[in-house]
Amino acid sequence: MKHFLVTGGAGFIGSNFIHYTLSNTTDIHITNLDALTYAGNPANLSGLELDSRYKFIHGNINNPQLLDDIFQTTPIDNIIHFAAESHVDRSITDPLLFIQTNILGTANLLLHAKKYWTEFDPQSKASFRFLHISTDEVFGSLEIEEPAFTENTPYAPNSPYAASKASSDHLVRSYFHTYDFPAIITNCSNNYGGYQYPEKLIPLVISNAVNGKPLPIYGDGKQIRDWLYVQDHCEALYTVLQQGTPGESYNIGGNNQPANLEVVQMICKILDDFLPGSKFVPHANLIEFVKDRLGHDRRYAMNTAKIRQELGWQPKESIESGLHKTIRWYLDNNDWIKTTLEKETHKNWLTQNYESRGEKDK
Ligand code: NAD
Ligand code: DAU
Repeated sequence: MKHFLVTGGAGFIGSNFIHYTLSNTTDIHITNLDALTYAGNPANLSGLELDSRYKFIHGNINNPQLLDDIFQTTPIDNIIHFAAESHVDRSITDPLLFIQTNILGTANLLLHAKKYWTEFDPQSKASFRFLHISTDEVFGSLEIEEPAFTENTPYAPNSPYAASKASSDHLVRSYFHTYDFPAIITNCSNNYGGYQYPEKLIPLVISNAVNGKPLPIYGDGKQIRDWLYVQDHCEALYTVLQQGTPGESYNIGGNNQPANLEVVQMICKILDDFLPGSKFVPHANLIEFVKDRLGHDRRYAMNTAKIRQELGWQPKESIESGLHKTIRWYLDNNDWIKTTLEKETHKNWLTQNYESRGEKDK
């Protein structure tokens, strides 16, 4: 039996990773530590309540006493660290929260994990892994003609979110270098799929389109992201846990690089096909250009040769197949999204982020 500690497992990627792991294995137990911020949703884990391999702990990675308790009472041999504040727009309005969670939270987790790991016998020490889930945003922004980010691209984070993730990556790296603590970093591009909080572009556009609301495109909509279907990310993370080398970092990406406007147009077209009787067909009529995000990165692209050549992983979904699955998921899980859309905290966020943007300056 193995025992994973997953942090942030009630969020988007963490919950997908827990479902992925428990459905593909029989010998792994998971303890999920999550503070249930606005982004954490226990409904993401429904179906697991009766699974004896799964346990939920409601708590904060910044709580030292709680971490001591967990490490003293649970035989953890892998930590998969997702917990973070993850939305770039929120980091622009509340940067200190990102420093608190992403930097200090990771520092606290590392401190306690390393203290616990130090007391292991040599064999358990060698097989232990701390997998830190990071982002391509730490590398900054690319011009259109520049080659994709590699693991050796210098860090140049541009938003408070990216800077807080870069800082946490540096802390993780330093624990390997200083203590031989067996940490691995993965830097991944934009994920999409089921259970994603509808503040992020793809679920926001799907839910707005279905409800006949404007589809806000920041700036000129020509920004480029490297879209990866979340199940492919989960498979990559599991592969890195099994075969990755401590002290290394691995880039993960989807090799799908359409501009934001194209992604939104693709979503509209798929919705037109799925919902031919909707009064909002053609959904593309709902597209509205709004004022740009401050400091908006123009382009991300990931060179994934290392993980493909060394660990044999590559994504299975194209942007077309991944978007079809994702849109089907949101249409089939209307109650899931409706619960979030009706929350006051969510409505307040939409007002704060969108009402002052207005139409884009021409
Ligand atoms: P998310 O915002 O959906 O979920 C974050 C989860 O962390 C939530 O369940 C929240 O309750 C929990 N959390 C927040 N603060 C906490 C704290 N102090 N203690 C315990 N739990 C806390 O995020 P996501 O999109 O699933 O991203 C997960 C991780 O992957 C993050 O580290 C993010 O930086 C990274 N990442 C995300 C993407 C993406 O496209 N979403 C891409 C690359 C990397
Ligand atoms: O690249 C990986 C990162 O991807 C992760 O580290 C972050 O946690 C995750 O949130 C995501 O960051 P982005 O800022 O790229 O994702 P978001 O969905 O917020 O925006 C995607 C693109 O769409 C970006 O260029 C901004 C644009 N956008 C976004 C929103 C919410 C719009 O044009 N309109 C919108 O309303």
